[in-house]
This record gives sequence, C-alpha cells and structure tokens, in this order.
Amino acid sequence: MKGTEKRMIEITKIPIFVEEVSVFTLPNHEYYKEKINEIVKIEENKSIHKFSTVPDKEDNVKANRSAWDSHFRYPVINELTTDIRNVIHQSIKQDNYDAPVLSTINAWVNWYKKEQFAEFHHHGCHVACVYFVDVEKTNANFLFSNKDIYRLIKREGDKTVTNDRKEVIAKDGTVIFFSGNTYHGVLPNYTDNLRVTFACNFAVNYNSERKDY
Ligand SMILES: [Fe+2]
Repeated sequence: MKGTEKRMIEITKIPIFVEEVSVFTLPNHEYYKEKINEIVKIEENKSIHKFSTVPDKEDNVKANRSAWDSHFRYPVINELTTDIRNVIHQSIKQDNYDAPVLSTINAWVNWYKKEQFAEFHHHGCHVACVYFVDVEKTNANFLFSNKDIYRLIKREGDKTVTNDRKEVIAKDGTVIFFSGNTYHGVLPNYTDNLRVTFACNFAVNYNSERKDY
C-alpha cells in the first residue's frame, strides 16, 4: 500500500510461547554430595580401583561422566533418582498434568575440570533433570537456549541483544527439571575447581491394569 513507509502504523506485540522450568532444594543434599564425590573419586582413579563406568564414545558433554545407567550400577544413584522422581511426581499432581507414572530412563554423574564444558543439546525425553551438586566454586554456568536460527537480532551500540539464551546461576543443592526437549549447555569452567552435577531423564508411562488370564 502506498505511504506505509512514511506513516506511523501502530504495531502491537503478542507473547506466543512461554517456557517454564521448575526448581527445588534437595533434602539430604550433604549426604548425596558426599556419596557423589566418592563416585567421582572412584571413576577418576580407575587404574587403582580397576573399575570405571566412564564411556569411551564422544558426546555433548565435553567433560567427564559416569555411565548413562548409573542408577543400575550405584545403589545410591538409584536412591537419589527415586527421591527426585518423587518430588517431580508431587509437582505433576499439583499442576494437574496427565502423567500418572514416571520411569527412569537414564541417570549419571558429570564432572567438569578446567576448560571443560557441554555443547547445547537436549535429552529427548518427557522430563530432564539436573542436580547441582558442587557448582558454586566455578563460573561454569548452566544455559538454556531456544535454538532458533532465523531471527532478527537487535543491536545496542556494539552489543547484540537477544533473548534466545537464559543463564542460570545455580545454587549447590538445588535441582532443576524441565521438558526433555529443551536445549541447554554448560559454559566452560575457567577455574581450577571441579564442577559436579548429576542428571537424570524420565519418561511418562500410562500402565493399564493387568487382567486375570
Ligand atoms: Fe544435558
């Protein structure tokens, strides 16, 4: 239409999607922190213990981790995963989601040494969860990304302004859980301190009652 380049047209904004993540403080944090640190020590000293579940294949975590199925390998990881699952289930009931049964798919321990990080990735499950065991002594913060590729970027002076990343300043002893297809990553650890986290994935099941046969 003629004249739109000169006329001031009123433009309104409508928010379309709002993502939320949930956070809680884990009871028994000190107990689990001690046990997880023991696991890291065992996995790091495999030559002495002749035992390690650290994988040899490359993945998104450019750091160190125990096996994906650590809940089958370490009883305490199974106990921790059950505790976390119970809290998530409580949240599901409070929010009235239709998710009657949660089952654990994976559970593992991550530890980041100097200059280690995690690329943006997602877990491809219904609910993903990260427990910040010992992170406050490093600057390696947790990031969420909405992974949009085609978008307009605002410039303010020599800065770019985007809202496609959200940095989380996590507290030790807290657990964050979110939709399992949400992209996230970890900034490089530039300190000499170890950054330790635990992660687990859950799937939602709809079990039908077994009949008599
Ligand atoms: Fe992850």
